Amino acid sequence: MSVSISVLKKGGISNLSKFVIRNISDSPYYSKVAKREEKKRFGYNNIKKKLEDGDNLFLIIKDGDNIIGSFNGYFESGMFWADWLIIEKKYRKKGYAINFFKYLEKLSIKKGVHKIWFDSRTNNKQSISLIKKMGYKKITTIKKHWYKQDFILWHKFL
Ligand SMILES: CC(C)(COP(=O)(O)OP(=O)(O)OC[C@H]1O[C@@H](n2cnc3c(N)ncnc32)[C@H](O)[C@@H]1OP(=O)(O)O)[C@@H](O)C(=O)NCCC(=O)NCCS
Repeated sequence: MSVSISVLKKGGISNLSKFVIRNISDSPYYSKVAKREEKKRFGYNNIKKKLEDGDNLFLIIKDGDNIIGSFNGYFESGMFWADWLIIEKKYRKKGYAINFFKYLEKLSIKKGVHKIWFDSRTNNKQSISLIKKMGYKKITTIKKHWYKQDFILWHKFL
């Protein structure tokens, strides 16, 4: 099977929605309320709406026909806000998240983006290690933020 990164097309929305919702359900870092609300954001119609808005970006990694990774966010005022980055459990620790970041950064530079920023939960060790490895710097820790949970804000100038 060949594994490749691509930009999501309309025909792939249903599979992406199922992939993200399943993985949000499995996350140990989000409260019940957070998971419920985050899953709503990735319902079919919400993704479709975002996809129609040229400022949103959904990247996927497929192994054959199966989605095994997704990374989404949006371009705004010269910056890219990275939202959810997910790699299917059995494909983790193989460098796919790093590949996503490299792809996103290349694309962002092409589009004239000067900065990528995003958040992580303060206790998501895997994510924090990945983010640091990719050269992102901590802006601050924000306590009791989204869904009353603690987050770290990160950024990198391109
Ligand atoms: C975080 C996540 C995206 C990493 O994906 P991945 O493809 O396994 O990551 P990579 O193989 O590209 O690893 C790159 C780096 O990430 C860090 N990392 C990844 N998995 C890790 C783990 N289990 N423990 C500690 N660090 C880890 C390491 O720094 C790693 O570099 P190394 O292999 O040299 O140690 C993945 O664990 C995941 O999907 N988690 C669930 C969803 C999530 O929490 N997403 C982030 C919040 S939006």
